[in-house]
Amino acid sequence: MDAAPHIVRTRVGIVGGGPAGLMLSHLLATSGIDNVVVEKRSHEAIENTHRAGILEHGSVRMLTESGVSNRVITDGDKHDGIDLRFGGVSHRIDFDALVGESVWLYPQNQVFVDLAAARRRDDGDVRFSVTDTEVLDLTTDTPKIRFTDVQGRRVELHCDFVVGADGSSSMCRRAIPATLRQGHFIEYPFAWFGILTEAPRSAPELIYANSPHGFALISQRNETVQRMYFQADPNEDAAAWSEERIWDELQRRVDGPDGLELKRGPIFEQMILKFRSYVCEPLRHGNLFLAGDAGHTVPPTGAKGLNLALADVRVLFEALDSFYSTGSSTLLDGYSETALKRVWKAQNFSYWMTSMLHTRSEASSFERKRALGELDSVVSSTYGRAYLAEAYTGWSHG
Ligand code: DHB
Repeated sequence: MDAAPHIVRTRVGIVGGGPAGLMLSHLLATSGIDNVVVEKRSHEAIENTHRAGILEHGSVRMLTESGVSNRVITDGDKHDGIDLRFGGVSHRIDFDALVGESVWLYPQNQVFVDLAAARRRDDGDVRFSVTDTEVLDLTTDTPKIRFTDVQGRRVELHCDFVVGADGSSSMCRRAIPATLRQGHFIEYPFAWFGILTEAPRSAPELIYANSPHGFALISQRNETVQRMYFQADPNEDAAAWSEERIWDELQRRVDGPDGLELKRGPIFEQMILKFRSYVCEPLRHGNLFLAGDAGHTVPPTGAKGLNLALADVRVLFEALDSFYSTGSSTLLDGYSETALKRVWKAQNFSYWMTSMLHTRSEASSFERKRALGELDSVVSSTYGRAYLAEAYTGWSHG
């Protein structure tokens, strides 16, 4: 028989040591609220997972003002706008002029590196590479997380609250009985083919391009490494594509009378990213709360995933802080509804950007022309551009 588990007592047990889990852990620690994070992946595996690279101003402020790190400011790039490109012509959306805000290009894995370093610096209890994690007694006053730590010891965490920040295939979400949660879900008939390349920047800001051949996104990382994506079939075999074929495909999606030419270089990573939109409702079951991808997933167009996760964390932290400082559970009771308001706005924005910019391979001429009409109605109106700018940089309310 297994030895009895080692029992550890904490206030908030957090499943998932990605950006959402670590950010919550950091904020709780700044308020003196004891917490433990368990994560099944290794620090190295998370650090080497490439995700989106755009942070809303609110996410940047959260990292800097809460004392995580200023590296997003010193090492990241402030972007005051993007280009929407269609019919081979670029139209700049000037965020700063339209809504007085900006975004920062700073890769998600660097956000993770900063958060993990801050938790180490502040003696946070973050356990990577754990196995066999399970959550139990969620509707009691002592919900628990059981896991096997990296030394092979069975541990049982006794908590006041458990937070599921364990990503889109969340074990915590699945621990909520199916009859007590509703899943809202759509799939898309396309995916992104993403690359990382060693090349100079092809453009100073991001270009979101609608073309007769499908969508392309020209993004950056730094002086020498660039990130680009193009719409592909979800079943495409990324490894089968030669570098030349990838570059030719990207290039024909940005071709236009201005002669925009992508700067080519060796490609050192190529992968398919599948799309889906998903929301779990509610984001709570007893004393379990879901945050980030565990509760909802957006397609990548517009880079809302991480920003939305951090927005959940802000609401959840304030609710937990209020509970521990006043004894009131009012904010905790409102967590799901409050967080889901922003989630649905971001779902709408991500869906809108996706449908406006991508082209189904079997699209009729009506469908293609209608999307161009929509793009034109956005870029030719100050209100249209401001709507996009406000959503892209991040709503300051709700
Ligand atoms: C990036 C990813 C996105 O999904 C997006 O909308 C913008 C940028 C990126 O990885 O750089």
